[in-house]
Amino acid sequence: MKFPCSLCCSLWFLLLIGVGSLLLLACLQNLTEMLLQQTPGANVLVAPRWPLDKEPVTDSPILFMIAHPLVGSSRLFTKRQRKLLLRSSLAPGTEVERRVEQRVELRRTQATRLHLLREVCAKYQAGSSEQPLSQQQVSRVYVEDRFGLLYCEVPKAGCSNWKRVLMVLGGSATSTQDIPHDAAHYTNHLRRLDSYDRAGITKRLRSYSKVLFVREPFERLVSAFRDKFESPNSYYHPVFGRPIISKYRVNATRRALRTGTGVTFREFVQYLLDVHRPVGMDIHWQPVSQLCNPCLFRYNFIGKFENLEEEANFLLQRIRAPTNLTFPRFKDRNPLAERTSSSITQMYFSQLNSTERQKAFDFYYMDYQMFNYPKPFKELH
Ligand SMILES: *[C@@H]1O[C@H](CO)[C@@H](O)[C@H](O)[C@H]1NC(C)=O
Ligand SMILES: *[C@@H]1O[C@H](CO)[C@@H](O)[C@H](O)[C@H]1NC(C)=O
Ligand SMILES: *[C@@H]1O[C@H](CO)[C@@H](O)[C@H](O)[C@H]1NC(C)=O
Ligand SMILES: *[C@@H]1O[C@H](CO)[C@@H](O)[C@H](O)[C@H]1NC(C)=O
Repeated sequence: MKFPCSLCCSLWFLLLIGVGSLLLLACLQNLTEMLLQQTPGANVLVAPRWPLDKEPVTDSPILFMIAHPLVGSSRLFTKRQRKLLLRSSLAPGTEVERRVEQRVELRRTQATRLHLLREVCAKYQAGSSEQPLSQQQVSRVYVEDRFGLLYCEVPKAGCSNWKRVLMVLGGSATSTQDIPHDAAHYTNHLRRLDSYDRAGITKRLRSYSKVLFVREPFERLVSAFRDKFESPNSYYHPVFGRPIISKYRVNATRRALRTGTGVTFREFVQYLLDVHRPVGMDIHWQPVSQLCNPCLFRYNFIGKFENLEEEANFLLQRIRAPTNLTFPRFKDRNPLAERTSSSITQMYFSQLNSTERQKAFDFYYMDYQMFNYPKPFKELH
């Protein structure tokens, strides 16, 4: 039997439209699932691996998600659940939408930071990623094998709480709440990257998420000073305080010379900027650009202390951490003292003259550039 041609054409046309819309529907559904998997509430699902060594080249959240190794796993939803989720995720102003937007924003921030870091590294040729890393260069990096995480420790930028989180992730503690400060630092059972052999280091560098949290450099410096010199400390006062007072204080008392207690911020900065320091560097005030080798290491995630909780929790979700593990809020050192803020920082730096401020800025210049912090004082150049 022969159809008239016009009917034949219309049938083909309808068929095409039918197939097209089916495909479109399937696509939409997958996308929605992917979006939902990014949201904390849906995090019981198979969470994504961090896009390792894959640069987040695109700013478009949708494209980025498609490029992501995450695959929409439809079997985890029933049809009914999917319908509900689809509806709720498309309704504007809902919690799901808000969370999706927040995550898109956090992801975009990451892309921007990583991109900027790469540009700064290229500009200053501060290292080439072809160069093999030495043991010493990876000694600040903590390893968490179960979740494939490498965390470079930056003191005074939330590292005690990060160590607590790593302990829970690794299974050596059940909750971050039970871990006292000293346990987090001295009996944490955490392994560092330099404790592995070359093959072990290479393997982890290649496939793990590499994470760094930074802080405004002057604020970090003031925080370190207050922590180590303004309250009793049986290590920093004798080891650093004594030589600092002895070199930079005119007419120091015998008592000050003996105890090393009472170092002023100005004396401390004089020590820091001295090309002939009477005592060596320390990780609490060493620039992050030296501690964590950001140009060699190709980090996947750069968090900021200024937005620590939100960014840390975002990262925890991305590495499939248990949903009941959130980033803790402990303030470890001197819990009664006010947290070092930008106004406190300004106050300490007002004790210096403009030459000293400029030199201190020069000292942390690479940190300011790499992590995009604005100049802390107008007069600096
Ligand atoms: C949707 O995702 C499934 C995997 O869950 C995949 O097999 C399928 O090809 C995807 N469909 C489209 C249209 O992307
Ligand atoms: C999280 O849940 C696991 C079991 O699902 C439990 O063992 C652990 O103690 C919980 N952690 C916290 C911090 O509540
Ligand atoms: C140090 O002591 C001498 C003698 O007591 C005094 O002349 C001088 O002014 C003092 N210098 C300072 C900076 O206090
Ligand atoms: C600032 O203080 C230093 C000593 O740390 C001194 O050498 C320098 O001359 C001072 N500069 C100004 C502009 O006062």
